[in-house]
Amino acid sequence: MPADFSQLKIALLESRSAAAAPVLERIGELGGECVLAPDADPAIVARLIEQGVDIVLFTASSQVADLFDSAGQTDSIDQLRDAFRRVLVTSAGPDITAALNQVGLAIDFEPDTPDGESLVDELVRIARDLITRKTLAADNGIDTLAWRRIDMRWDGFDRTIADSVFLKACRREPVPHTPVWIMRQAGRYQRAYREIREKTTMLGLCKTPELAAEVTLMAVERLGVDAAIIFADILLTLEPMGFDLEFVKGEGPVIRNPVRTASDVDRVLDGDVAALDYVCDALRLTRRALRPDIALIGFCGSPFTVATYMIEGGKSKNFRHTKTLMLTEPNAWHALMSKLVDLQVRYLNRQIDAGADALQVFGSWAGALGPEDYEQYVLPHLKMLIEGVGGRVPVINFATGNPILLPLLKRAGGDVIGLDWRVDLGEAWDALGDDVAVMGNMDPTVLYAPPEKIRQRVSVVLDQAAGRPGHIFNLGHGVSPDMSQANVAACVDAVHELSQSPGQTGSTITHE
Ligand code: CP3
Repeated sequence: MPADFSQLKIALLESRSAAAAPVLERIGELGGECVLAPDADPAIVARLIEQGVDIVLFTASSQVADLFDSAGQTDSIDQLRDAFRRVLVTSAGPDITAALNQVGLAIDFEPDTPDGESLVDELVRIARDLITRKTLAADNGIDTLAWRRIDMRWDGFDRTIADSVFLKACRREPVPHTPVWIMRQAGRYQRAYREIREKTTMLGLCKTPELAAEVTLMAVERLGVDAAIIFADILLTLEPMGFDLEFVKGEGPVIRNPVRTASDVDRVLDGDVAALDYVCDALRLTRRALRPDIALIGFCGSPFTVATYMIEGGKSKNFRHTKTLMLTEPNAWHALMSKLVDLQVRYLNRQIDAGADALQVFGSWAGALGPEDYEQYVLPHLKMLIEGVGGRVPVINFATGNPILLPLLKRAGGDVIGLDWRVDLGEAWDALGDDVAVMGNMDPTVLYAPPEKIRQRVSVVLDQAAGRPGHIFNLGHGVSPDMSQANVAACVDAVHELSQSPGQTGSTITHE
């Protein structure tokens, strides 16, 4: 998809004001045909009603009132509102969005940075996707004047999950471009996420399937990634096991009743997996509304990573209590791991039943262990977990922190090994062997650098993958709350562009 507006007709409702000039210029640069409507000219109302416009840019609240006043003069308010069922309604910021909502219009796009120029720059990447989606939604009888992302239905869309570039890469099949998604792609670095999150707690968000699905879909829409990951958390499985979990602002997860002794472990519940059905409900809502050729990833934490929270009670630097229990009470350790894995196997299978097309196991703190302890205390449990999925969907086995563990990670299983940034992806893949796909592995902190630098570092990772089938691009770990959405988007675009075909982009990548 070209990131320009060519062949799109874009209405700007305030062409004479000083604020409009840079927006106008930017649309021109991006190849859009500008439909100008100085001072809410009645001609624009007619033009909208006859569907002569693809997108309307609202860059000031007054434009909303002016446009509807203008329609009122010719008695065509209802027709105007109806026209917006198929025309993209975009707003430069929250006040304008509120004004639009007041006249009965749901907005289709508001930029992360609320101003007119950002509206144009952020919209241009995804305008065609949004138009395709809205047109199909209207064709499918969805009330696009008052819709949420979860209302979308794709009947009549010409691609299916069999076309998923991400799933093809999981299976090491040839792909038209390298698929990309970003760990923690839905989160606080997005203004729209923060706005939803302000109204509830982290757990409240996870436990409201409509909101969790909305946030999941929003990240895919904004970034243009090839996979969605369900909005949830690896620590949710702690609750049915009897742990008292809370996410504390500025502190992260806190477990008020951690386990430290063998008798503590005895009191840990086996856990009723139905208590996690809210995640499955979110998966169902997301799968129904997600574009059919985009994969939906379910997930859980790896046994060691989750155990560190159960035992430490929160984040930890040296995992003192975890390692103490492991080394001094090995039977209690293995019992705890077995209880956890047993619940997680049931949980992952229910996620598949609910629509997960792939699964990821997050081994975020695995690197705290050396190979001997990892092999003895973690590997058998991780293997049980992955075997418990029974090959029903591809599994991504992700760990960070210690490249020495990679051969053990492979032994544990999984169709895809997730690499962090501390290894050269090409060398790691050579060592793992070509019977497994790999995911990774740009250093997340590269996203603090300007887009040209991001692009260059994306090309380094793509060069290391060297066009071998089975590479999924991701960061080596999650995106941070203080990163800019524009830079995350620049990373996604660079992956798609640079992996497309040789020659055009200067990349040496080739695909079969
Ligand atoms: O990737 C995604 O977009 C899906 C959502 C997701 C979250 N957590 C949302 C979240 C996923 C896949 C996770 C996994 C997770 N959770 C891991 C493994 C991956 C990793 O990043 O290492 C770990 C270790 C956790 C535990 C956890 N949850 C921590 C340490 C924190 C605090 C982080 C912080 O900066 O406050 C959380 C909370 C959490 N999970 C947030 C999000 C978006 C922040 C919630 C908020 O306050 O809005």
